[in-house]
Amino acid sequence: MAFFNKRENSGKDSATLKIPDHLAIIMDGNGRWAKKRLLPRSAGHKAGMDNVKAITQAASDLGVKVLTLYAFSTENWRRPDNEVSFLMKLPVIFFNDFVPDLVAQNVRVTTMGDISQLPDATQAAIADAVEKTADNTGMFLNFAINYGGQAEIVQAAKQIAAAVAKGELNPADVDQGTFEAHLDTAPLGQWASPDLMIRTSGELRLSNFLPYQAAYCELYFTDTLWPDFDQAALLAAIKDYTSRDRRYGGL
Ligand code: FPP
Repeated sequence: MAFFNKRENSGKDSATLKIPDHLAIIMDGNGRWAKKRLLPRSAGHKAGMDNVKAITQAASDLGVKVLTLYAFSTENWRRPDNEVSFLMKLPVIFFNDFVPDLVAQNVRVTTMGDISQLPDATQAAIADAVEKTADNTGMFLNFAINYGGQAEIVQAAKQIAAAVAKGELNPADVDQGTFEAHLDTAPLGQWASPDLMIRTSGELRLSNFLPYQAAYCELYFTDTLWPDFDQAALLAAIKDYTSRDRRYGGL
């Protein structure tokens, strides 16, 4: 695997790069990547998984604090059974192979979404990766699995309503901080909201990915299919992000 080399980032051009603290990626286009090669869709997902390894390493070396990857949405259950079942095997294959590298890279694995609905082997692989990397202090590798942003917001509202009903919370005291404490991104603290969101494969929508947290996020869309989105493509996206003027509604 081609690992990103820090020294490659020390040139004049890259020295001026502004690295997003929280980078979120909608990894789209695995199926089309496979189709172009007359391969089954599963081959595209396998290539996509291999690319997760390369981009994790590159993002960590660049100094990204949180890399959130949309691996499986609450809507992806609508896919044919054989594809869902293959997608559920990927975390098992990925973590069995990659946890030692993640430990060596000081990367912490976290997740967002309802993991309890996943097959037992998938849950076990995720739990093992989370546990083995829990003491790491470097980048968060945050997988959104069985995640849906609207459900996340509804869940937060329900929890707040329950606290109000029990008399534990005054509705007048509910503010953004209260709300954000109930979102799946709460454990990410100061980096809960993405700074840059990338979607590969030419689709121009968020698809229920971090709708609350993306309020002031910079968006980057590329026609490149996820398995082809390499380190150079990542640097191009970050270069584009570097040129953005983030005003957060101000001047
Ligand atoms: C969208 O492409 C991709 C997915 C629904 C799955 C993404 C998963 C991975 C990249 C691998 C995840 C790895 C781990 C470790 C969990 P698509 O199938 O919709 O592509 P298409 O639009 O071209 O058909």
